[in-house]
Amino acid sequence: MEAVILVDVLRRAGAEVTVASVEPQLEVQASGGTKLVADTRISTCSDRVFDLVALPGGMPGSAQLRDCEILKKITSKQAEEKRLYGGISTAPAVTLLPWGLLKRKRTTCHPAFFDRLPTFWAVKSHIQVSGELTTSQGPGTSFLFALALVEQLFGESVAREIGELLFMHSADDKPRKEEFNKVDWAVSHTPRVLVPVANGSEEIEIVTIVDILRRAKVDVVVASIEKSVKILASQGVKIIADKLIGDAAGSIYDLIILPGGVAGTERLQKSRILKKLLKEQDAAGRILGAVCSSPTVLHKHGLLKENKATAHPSSITELSNPVDGPKVVIDGKLITSMGLATVSDFALAIVSKFFGHARARSVAEGLVFEYPRS
Ligand SMILES: *[C@@H]1O[C@H](CO)[C@@H](O)[C@H](O)[C@H]1NC(C)=O
Repeated sequence: MEAVILVDVLRRAGAEVTVASVEPQLEVQASGGTKLVADTRISTCSDRVFDLVALPGGMPGSAQLRDCEILKKITSKQAEEKRLYGGISTAPAVTLLPWGLLKRKRTTCHPAFFDRLPTFWAVKSHIQVSGELTTSQGPGTSFLFALALVEQLFGESVAREIGELLFMHSADDKPRKEEFNKVDWAVSHTPRVLVPVANGSEEIEIVTIVDILRRAKVDVVVASIEKSVKILASQGVKIIADKLIGDAAGSIYDLIILPGGVAGTERLQKSRILKKLLKEQDAAGRILGAVCSSPTVLHKHGLLKENKATAHPSSITELSNPVDGPKVVIDGKLITSMGLATVSDFALAIVSKFFGHARARSVAEGLVFEYPRS
């Protein structure tokens, strides 16, 4: 989540972002099990000048970054020459601290690693900007971290515009979540969830949903509807799915979730094998989920019926029974959301429906994501 949200948001703001692997290979497995393909190896970056070097957290990733001499050199030079650098979650304490790059700077980090920071300089805030250094707390504060960096690179008005585009500032008078025709979702086995993806699917939505559900111990399968398991997501992040949709289609899923992204949604809609799966899911009375532009796929396949749903504002008017306002709408065995920054609430709502509120709250706490008490 930290890596993908950062890359996506910076690219949306207009930054040219290079994702560099410190491993011998470009393919890395992130802490939530998502497989990502970097743009290049870190060795190709040593002679380049960057306006920002930003480090995602996660263990043991932060230790791997710390042990990379080339990255240490790049980041140290960045600090010496007074250009921007930053780290989130475990990165401040595990990576930047041993490199000596937090000296005399107020710093925050993931609460579980807070006591490693020098006491006098440690601050318990979601975001801390101290000169060239920006630090933040965890997956749940990734959007704030990315936006703070956008503000420093592009200015306040661009940051505000991007924040609105991501739905980070939805009105406080609107409920986060609204549920209609309440039914029980609990199952007696480990819940199984299928996330079909295509080229052009929104990477923030894929990774956030998959990561949060896996943290809650849901069994998640990411399946590509393309010819290859490797897909190119909407902001250029390369993701390797677990399976091809044809190989995933033989199993039964308690829930199928469609991610958004305009181009990806169109491709998902055209997949005949997915259409068949979605119709079977509905006919069997199992759960369907969709975010951003993808609730329109369910609508076009005739699966929304009179159910209440939400979607991205650009496509919500296409739905037959839209509910405009809440970030997440549940109607019986259908769950929908506006997309982008609202999908953390979407994924936590699913956790809450499968396992109860306490599990959702404990997952939110690990993410450092504000979640209501009841
Ligand atoms: C989808 O993306 C992959 C990975 O970048 C690429 O190899 C493939 O050609 C793309 N497929 C289509 C149909 O554009």
